[in-house]
Amino acid sequence: MSETPANFVGIDLGTSTSALAHVRPDGNPEIVPNADGERLTPSVVFFDRYEGVKLVGSAAKDGGDPERTVRHIKKHMDDPSYVIEIDGEKWTPTEISALILAKLRKDCARIIGPIDEVVITVPANFNELARKATVTAGRLAGLKVKRIVNEPTAAALYYAHTQGVRGRVLVYDLGGGTLDITVLEVEQDRVDILLSEGARHLGGSDFDEILLELIAEKYREQNGRDLILDPVQRRRLLAAAEDTKKRLSKLNVVSEKIATEDYGLAEVELTRDAFEDAIRRLLTRTVMLLEQAIDTLGFAPSDIDHVVLVGGSTRIPKVQELLTRHFGKAPVSCGNVDECVALGAALFAKRARRVSEVCNHSYGTLALIEDAATGFSRVRNSIVIPKNTPIPCSMSQTYITSEDNEELIEVEITQGDDRDPRYVDVIGRIALRVPPGRPAGCAVTVSYSYDENQRVRAQVYDEESGLRKDIAIEYEGEGVLPEHEIERKSAYLKQIRIA
Ligand SMILES: Nc1ncnc2c1ncn2[C@@H]1O[C@H](COP(=O)(O)OP(=O)(O)OP(=O)(O)O)[C@@H](O)[C@H]1O
Ligand SMILES: [Mg+2]
Repeated sequence: MSETPANFVGIDLGTSTSALAHVRPDGNPEIVPNADGERLTPSVVFFDRYEGVKLVGSAAKDGGDPERTVRHIKKHMDDPSYVIEIDGEKWTPTEISALILAKLRKDCARIIGPIDEVVITVPANFNELARKATVTAGRLAGLKVKRIVNEPTAAALYYAHTQGVRGRVLVYDLGGGTLDITVLEVEQDRVDILLSEGARHLGGSDFDEILLELIAEKYREQNGRDLILDPVQRRRLLAAAEDTKKRLSKLNVVSEKIATEDYGLAEVELTRDAFEDAIRRLLTRTVMLLEQAIDTLGFAPSDIDHVVLVGGSTRIPKVQELLTRHFGKAPVSCGNVDECVALGAALFAKRARRVSEVCNHSYGTLALIEDAATGFSRVRNSIVIPKNTPIPCSMSQTYITSEDNEELIEVEITQGDDRDPRYVDVIGRIALRVPPGRPAGCAVTVSYSYDENQRVRAQVYDEESGLRKDIAIEYEGEGVLPEHEIERKSAYLKQIRIA
């Protein structure tokens, strides 16, 4: 009798498309197609009115009614106040994402059997709340989430595995919703992230909006009247604009036929040049972020051995041209730029490689700090672990108590780079009760440790009394589901028909 090998899978839960991959017995990762026969599942959910079915994927994309269709939910993963109401029922971004993951889980089970453990990827610049929401979404979908991995790390693993990419690697990931720039050091069987930078709301869906504006402008020029963009028409034209955009990656001129209610069919001609011109501002921003990232590391473009492409939007010829110009060499593309994150995540799930990463945020505490110039003390954010420190790591900082007879030492744990407390998030608190009757000036050490699952623990140590207190940081923000709620909602989602 032989044991069936466990099914470890990797999932790229993307803004516009999601993918699931596993590792074959020969050690190579492969995409598991969904039940509709597609390798990429559009991250779109359609709420059916008649039978309460939740359609996920292409069927949802073509679902017809924009008011019942949810897209790009990933852009809201860090927003606890964002809810979508359909048929009197409220849905959070976590729950919508759970529906997408549940479809992937179900479809995958038909082909390779039930999933044992999963690694889900997130953009490197996702904050703690969004990472937690992603883990919760997986659990609501009935998945055992082994860990969360940064998308560029997964992609680098895939490139290292398939293309033998080694040395200093820059991953340029331009997807549907975000841009991620990551510099990694890749050796034979080891990947170290040196730095990760990104921009939210910069990706393919922004290009679609811009192309739609261009179409409307051309239409106005040719027909002397405005395109009427009610929500239904707008949705339809945005979908058409996306198709046109993809064609413009291959052709120099395409024409777009637009059916208008009152005036019949109109034809608009679009050129690649005009499109690339219209998105120039956004592309320039991606180059600036690139320069900034390389600069932060003290590198020159020539210090980068390989630039690798990730994300569907890197198929735009201008993107590749800009990168070639900037680095003086062409970027490496594996072709399936929209699948490589899932494929790398599968390698990760199988623990095929050792990977080290960096903290995506700075962690610190609020402390009274004297201003050298004025002599006044002000509450500032004192950073203990700076962003981009390699993880796992553990760092400490000692502070002095400022008041006599303090009995309760309260430490506020912050996430964010700013010195100004107004611009950082307080993500946890520790209160340590100490014996009475102490003078000011006692040393208190605050330590943070950050493990490879991007989980943060904090400890306060009072030297005078020898007392210490240690907590795992559970993001206190609104919108984090308590354990019993996860169980209840997961049971509820199980009853929903997802197709
Ligand atoms: N040939 C192409 N030319 C231009 N854009 C393309 C092409 N193919 C796909 N895209 C665009 O790529 C985007 C999707 O890329 P991808 O699937 O990598 O994103 P995602 O993973 O969903 O997003 P993110 O990584 O931001 O969460 C879409 O906006 C799509 O229109
Ligand atoms: Mg992506």
